[in-house]
Amino acid sequence: MTDILNGLTVPLNRRSFVKKGLMAAGAATMAPAVFAEAGSQERSGALTRSGSLNTGDAALLRFAAAAEILEADFWIQYNELGGVQDSEVPGGSGSPVYTAKLKNLDGDFDQYIHDNTDDEITHFTFLNAYLVANGAQPVDLEQFRTLPGSQATGSSGSLRLTNLMQLTLDTSWWTRYRSSTHNPDLDPNFKFPPAVPGLRNGQFTAIPRTDADLTPDAHIQAIANTAALHMPTIEQGGNSLYPSMAQRASSVEVLRILISIGPTETMHFQTWSDKAGNALNTPLAPLTDPTNGLFFPNLNAPPNDKEIFTTNLIMPEPCPFLSRSLPACSVIRPTETTGVAMGTLRFLTDMGLFIGQSQAFFTFMADLAAAADAATRQC
Ligand SMILES: [Fe+2]
Ligand SMILES: [Fe+2]
Repeated sequence: MTDILNGLTVPLNRRSFVKKGLMAAGAATMAPAVFAEAGSQERSGALTRSGSLNTGDAALLRFAAAAEILEADFWIQYNELGGVQDSEVPGGSGSPVYTAKLKNLDGDFDQYIHDNTDDEITHFTFLNAYLVANGAQPVDLEQFRTLPGSQATGSSGSLRLTNLMQLTLDTSWWTRYRSSTHNPDLDPNFKFPPAVPGLRNGQFTAIPRTDADLTPDAHIQAIANTAALHMPTIEQGGNSLYPSMAQRASSVEVLRILISIGPTETMHFQTWSDKAGNALNTPLAPLTDPTNGLFFPNLNAPPNDKEIFTTNLIMPEPCPFLSRSLPACSVIRPTETTGVAMGTLRFLTDMGLFIGQSQAFFTFMADLAAAADAATRQC
């Protein structure tokens, strides 16, 4: 793990790192003739063609494409076991026990998983197609598809890019969006309390690893609850990533892509944050996993602060934005753009999503993130 995290450390000399990263990625990023300046190529309605993406815009889209491939990979795992398996999202045959536990949180849970999965597949497919249509290299992570995934009945047993079985979750977004006094962009050191402190201390599976995880009842419900907390945790990341990156897009069309995909991540986050609340309210909460002690509190019960924890307060609370001298505003937060791609990669790594991945994977991803973070807006 130390090596992995070292691999994500942003070097002091960003310029040399980016250069090294571009070289390491080889043909994937070295296409100088293709990356002509955007100039006045932007126009409404028409698809821009080869040569119209500058280096920075291509890097922003490539990082987004990689993130979407990874998102799609774990959503497919959820869909195989707890979603709706059909021609739109094929693979797997469902785990009736796991699906039933998810449906305890919302009767439409399986449909929402399916539709979220479908969205992610279209996100990376579109981004890669747009890169190709504009003469840039798409992102391909297939060489890193090496993780075994769930062996439970219902799983396709396919190799995976991501690991849903050793998650460590920071659920502080719960109180970040309920705080009227703090915004991480203005208070980077403020510690927002997590909704489920236990998920931060240990490694927990969000899917049945084998059929042995289907019992006892409280254990498989705790696994479903972990999924219900993981889903908004990851989607709030996308909710911040897109507006953060959009601030450095040069082409209006690339800006349009980023600000059009980003809000769908917000729709995912909002939906899942409501489902997470159902795991943290009566009749399901409180719940303790008898196998490992993981505790899901009832956030509507004392001593939890009502303003900060009540489960139906899912609309974002207005908070300080840009400057405390301005009135509070209901906004996505954080949206600081500096270093957002590397921060996203670290966030995903810290949650255990890549446990088992190779150093080559982390190097590849860090190179994409460094290139995206080096993008500057060219007007
Ligand atoms: Fe997405
Ligand atoms: Fe998403």
